[in-house]
Amino acid sequence: MRSRRKSSQPLQLLRQGPDRGAALAQYEARAATYDFELALFEPIRGRAIERLKLQLGETVLDVGCGTGLSLERLQREVGATGHVVGIEQCPAMIVQARTRIGAQANENVTLICAPAEELQLEGSADAALFHFTHDVLRRPAALDRVLRHLKPGGRLVACGLQWASLWALPINLFVWGAALRSVSSMRGLERPWSLLAERVGGLEVEDLLLGAVFLAHGIRPATSLGDVARGAADDAPQEA
Ligand SMILES: C[S@@+](CC[C@H](N)C(=O)[O-])C[C@H]1O[C@@H](n2cnc3c(N)ncnc32)[C@H](O)[C@@H]1O
Repeated sequence: MRSRRKSSQPLQLLRQGPDRGAALAQYEARAATYDFELALFEPIRGRAIERLKLQLGETVLDVGCGTGLSLERLQREVGATGHVVGIEQCPAMIVQARTRIGAQANENVTLICAPAEELQLEGSADAALFHFTHDVLRRPAALDRVLRHLKPGGRLVACGLQWASLWALPINLFVWGAALRSVSSMRGLERPWSLLAERVGGLEVEDLLLGAVFLAHGIRPATSLGDVARGAADDAPQEA
């Protein structure tokens, strides 16, 4: 059953963790106009994909791929022998992604319509991108599931909105406005990458757009797949 929580209730957004029903409703409503709204952030996408340091022939996961704005660039980086897997829970968004990639979907791009926390893939990936996916980053089960599908030593890049310093009121007003439309929970917006940092040793984080956006990158530890998934799931509180 879908949640009745509306994404336009700011206090609830601050108090509660990610809400799947609210996120689905939010992106169903935005799917047709989403690409125009993201224009300001496009240079960050390029930087995030560069940070993945993809090689020809590799497999890369695009977690919360939305309308597929990253897919073509990822596909170029891994080439015809590589594989791009987009994971997206909102059917209306993935329809846009399918239209965007057209016939290439049959070649080396696979789109999966499912929540990241239910991801099931054969084999493991070399890299994973979380581009403006705050809801995913605040769900321990989703992070654990993605990490389980990444090779030990696999690269992770995450970026998205964050609160800037306390004094930066205009920047935070901008973050507030953008977050109202794009997340189902503002919890953790001061350190959106914190749950990832608990799972990925040595995560490096830089600030972009006057602190309104973070860009983080790290390496999946070389522990066994079971250790990462079990340890992280046991320790972390579930935001839901
Ligand atoms: C701000 S959009 C980003 C889309 C894309 N990564 C981009 O950069 O254009 C966030 C996307 O994450 C998806 N999403 C949110 N929670 C998710 C989850 N648990 N599993 C998969 N997708 C999710 C939303 O449906 C939405 O399409």
